[in-house]
Amino acid sequence: MTRHDPRFRTRLIVGVELDYVIAEMNDLPDFDHLVIGSGIAGLFYALKAAASGTVALVTKKGSAESNTNYAQGGIASVMSSEDSFELHVQDTLTAGAGLCREDVVRTVVQEGPARIRELIEYGMRFTERDVPGQPGRREFDLGREGGHSKRRIVHAQDMTGREIERALVEAAEGTPQIQIFQNHIAVDLITTQKLGVAGPNRCLGAYVLDKASGTVRVFSAPTVALASGGCGKVYLYTTNPDIATGDGVAMAYRSGAAVANMEFIQFHPTCLYHPKIKSFLISEAVRGEGAVLRGLDGQEFMARYDPRKELAPRDIVARAIDSEMKRTGADHVYLDITHKPAPFIIRRFPNIYRTCLENGIDITKECIPVVPAAHYQCGGVVTDMNGATELAGLYAIGEVACTGLHGANRLASNSLLEALVGAHRAARHAAESPQPKLPVAIPPWQSGHAQNPDEMVVVSHLWDEIRRLMWDYVAIVRTNKRLQRALNRIDNLQTEIRDFYWDFVVTADLLELRNIATVAELIVRCAMQRPESRGLHYNLDYPKPDPAWAQRDTVLRRSGA
Ligand code: FAD
Ligand code: SIN
Repeated sequence: MTRHDPRFRTRLIVGVELDYVIAEMNDLPDFDHLVIGSGIAGLFYALKAAASGTVALVTKKGSAESNTNYAQGGIASVMSSEDSFELHVQDTLTAGAGLCREDVVRTVVQEGPARIRELIEYGMRFTERDVPGQPGRREFDLGREGGHSKRRIVHAQDMTGREIERALVEAAEGTPQIQIFQNHIAVDLITTQKLGVAGPNRCLGAYVLDKASGTVRVFSAPTVALASGGCGKVYLYTTNPDIATGDGVAMAYRSGAAVANMEFIQFHPTCLYHPKIKSFLISEAVRGEGAVLRGLDGQEFMARYDPRKELAPRDIVARAIDSEMKRTGADHVYLDITHKPAPFIIRRFPNIYRTCLENGIDITKECIPVVPAAHYQCGGVVTDMNGATELAGLYAIGEVACTGLHGANRLASNSLLEALVGAHRAARHAAESPQPKLPVAIPPWQSGHAQNPDEMVVVSHLWDEIRRLMWDYVAIVRTNKRLQRALNRIDNLQTEIRDFYWDFVVTADLLELRNIATVAELIVRCAMQRPESRGLHYNLDYPKPDPAWAQRDTVLRRSGA
């Protein structure tokens, strides 16, 4: 097979300072499991999978860098006798606007408490409080967020994600069967179809760029767990860190797996609006503790939009803010918690308090300027209840997956829960149904002639262009015309990106650009397939839900894959 073989077009690795061909070596043993991503889903899966074999965990930055690391509010689960599975199920179904899979919702909700106890066994420390009237007894300090009828969010102050990553990274580092490869970015999945092997398509591992050496290594494993998180960086304004470029969805789609419901991008209502700080979230838990939204004139406005006011589901609150900003021409609104005692605010939200104070806002005395920003990908790679995708050997867990839990709008703090339950079930399923030995030896990545990629400025320009057009045309409020305009533009950009991809050095930036362009296309194409407004997808040309589309997913598969 040559690199021009149409069945498996290996790309050219062109080093900045190299001008000769390098044939890269397979320098790694085969693993039993390959995990892509070190957020809550990847780490939890790795810890569980280690019981059934060796695990390679690749992650494109440092071990803790992930969306998980920035999670504030906490994990929704029924941990109090005043709550019930049925209430959590109903709240999830209501937020999901008719599109959740009820069997999945029930499973995730019911298995949640056991997974939270396991997380604690791995070292996680949640915030507790004294049990009222029972000296010496402690219980979880349960938070409240929009769409929840009860207090049910376990949290570690307002830094839940940081504590999850601390505990799970430490546990994984202490597990001999797990080898963590930091600064390794997965380029593409390796499948039998791409290698030209007859029979049903199957995943065999991944080509992974070692960012330090610039070489692409072969990671071969009969079981691959895609835990690469979401795609907030497809939008100009997002609460997500830089890792969230939708790599997993793009790789799975290129490999022939089904992707669904990508039109349902959740916009968090309250991202800090500040010239110096990008992507800092003001947790929904702040509204859960009584904060109110105000226009620039100081007036509250949520009652005009929903009787649940600030605690309505997120799609409603984000749209209300968007509508107020458009109505008044303001570039932000305010969140006000100043009526609460300062010691309570500082104790409950130390990170938000400190970060705002460092940037000139004392939240105990002043309103916080906020805007909605892209936050969470409700769709993703289609899986069954065990995280299994359509591609044998490939599991998708956490935010990258579309399990059916979230439907058209995720209930707050259900994603960390979904990641825990999904990772547990996928690791168990992989151990119980091992894939047969690899049918072929995987060829090394083939490198090509070097060229100097002095066009990198173009890569960064294309990045910006995609993110801006997605913000302008495919954000909180959409129209058919805007979607079509976005698709036309993305088609053109993809042609340019393809030229880069085949001609220039592979860098993390270029790989991510290619992936955000693919994901942008998938979001737009899913949005164009849905002729209604439902949950997070709001199209002015079809402003109401259409009962004919209740329970219908928008599914995309790559043609010819
Ligand atoms: P992530 O935690 O995003 O991890 C993905 C991992 O994959 C990262 O390590 C990344 O580097 C790696 N990766 C990606 N692409 C590649 C590649 N090509 N090669 C190698 N590695 C790759 N949800 C809640 O339930 N409760 C909350 O309180 C909450 N708060 C949030 C606050 C913020 C600011 C944000 C951004 C999200 C919040 N969410 C919350 C959502 C939740 O944090 C995420 O959905 C969840 O953490 C996703 O976990 P994950 O393991 O699937 O992905
Ligand atoms: C938050 O703390 O507001 C984020 C919760 C979530 O995204 O689930």
